Amino acid sequence: MRTYKFVPVPLPYSFDALEPVIDGETVRIHYGQHYTGYINNLNVLLSGYPKYCGYTLEQLISSPLGSIPSDTAADIRFNAGGVYAHELYFAGLRPPSATGYINSDCALIHEIKRQYSTINDFLYEIKQAGMNIKGSGWVWLVWTGHSRVNGRSGLLIVSTSNHDVPNLSKCVPLFALDVWEHSYYLKYRWERKVYLDNILSIIDFDSISSRMEGLF
Ligand SMILES: [Fe+2]
Repeated sequence: MRTYKFVPVPLPYSFDALEPVIDGETVRIHYGQHYTGYINNLNVLLSGYPKYCGYTLEQLISSPLGSIPSDTAADIRFNAGGVYAHELYFAGLRPPSATGYINSDCALIHEIKRQYSTINDFLYEIKQAGMNIKGSGWVWLVWTGHSRVNGRSGLLIVSTSNHDVPNLSKCVPLFALDVWEHSYYLKYRWERKVYLDNILSIIDFDSISSRMEGLF
């Protein structure tokens, strides 16, 4: 069980491995400054509250932090959410050169086809969700099991602002797509649409499927 003092999860590929979709400088800054910065901030905040140092990221995000002043509790949730989301983001991408972009035998692909008809229809929904985010936020692929969330069960695409995380009592996030400008601005500038088109070509369905299959 991962708790304070949090350390960064190693990046599963080199900084430049996602080129030409995401340039190496963006990944280096994104991982080394933004993601690692949220880890450091979270550790500093928690160091003043030993009562919560045994909490996991999920508990820090979801549980009452009643004995912490509300502003500090909000900072803890913001940074814990940032760590949680970025770890799903980096883990859910694969180098363009890797084989097996879409493994038709994996459980996730089967589920996507069952719920969304085609992979392209599924990716289009993610892209539209990303385009509809105002300011900074995330598009999440979550698994609800048999629980109905927003009228649906199974796979669900949801959006959140800033570093807000979907309700973890009702779903398990499988993947998070970063729609903060720091994730694409060096290469794509204001062209979020192009960023989304391109990054959706390097989603690692196999690793996301493994996470989903681990829930069964
Ligand atoms: Fe980010």
